[in-house]
Amino acid sequence: MIGGRLPRRLSFLFLALASLVVIAAGCGPSLPPSKPLSQLTPLEAQGYQVFATHCAECHNASSEKSLHGPGLQGLYKKKFLPSGAPANDDRVTDAIRNGRGLMPALGHTMDDAELKALLAYLHTL
Ligand code: HEC
Repeated sequence: MIGGRLPRRLSFLFLALASLVVIAAGCGPSLPPSKPLSQLTPLEAQGYQVFATHCAECHNASSEKSLHGPGLQGLYKKKFLPSGAPANDDRVTDAIRNGRGLMPALGHTMDDAELKALLAYLHTL
């Protein structure tokens, strides 16, 4: 009787552990945390406002989870953008100005100073 139960328990434990490993692996190596909002420079804080106005409806800033577009936490801490392009200002500016796939072009919604502030903010994520 005991002999019949133990393996079942063990295999349950094994499954539970295995799924934990899979979940942990799915999150990938954890990125350094974003800079807290309270510590943003004036430029970064201006960029946060631009983000709230033009990007937040489609992108999470505080997680990598997708909303309408990919979550942007750690955007510049990773080597590549979700599309596979290198994570640098040129490519991010291009996505913002000209759009990408389902993302609309937003270049006309902000001036150069706002774009610069937005990029500064994105670097804090
Ligand atoms: C209407 C929804 C929407 C809005 C608004 C939006 N995006 Fe996106 N964004 C998307 C989608 C969808 C994708 C995925 C595009 C694809 O590769 O197909 C994306 C992709 C991106 C990417 C990744 C590009 C790459 O090469 O992988 C970045 C960076 C990005 N958006 C930044 C922004 C920023 C910054 C703003 C605000 C200025 C913004 N987005 C506003 C929907 C949106």
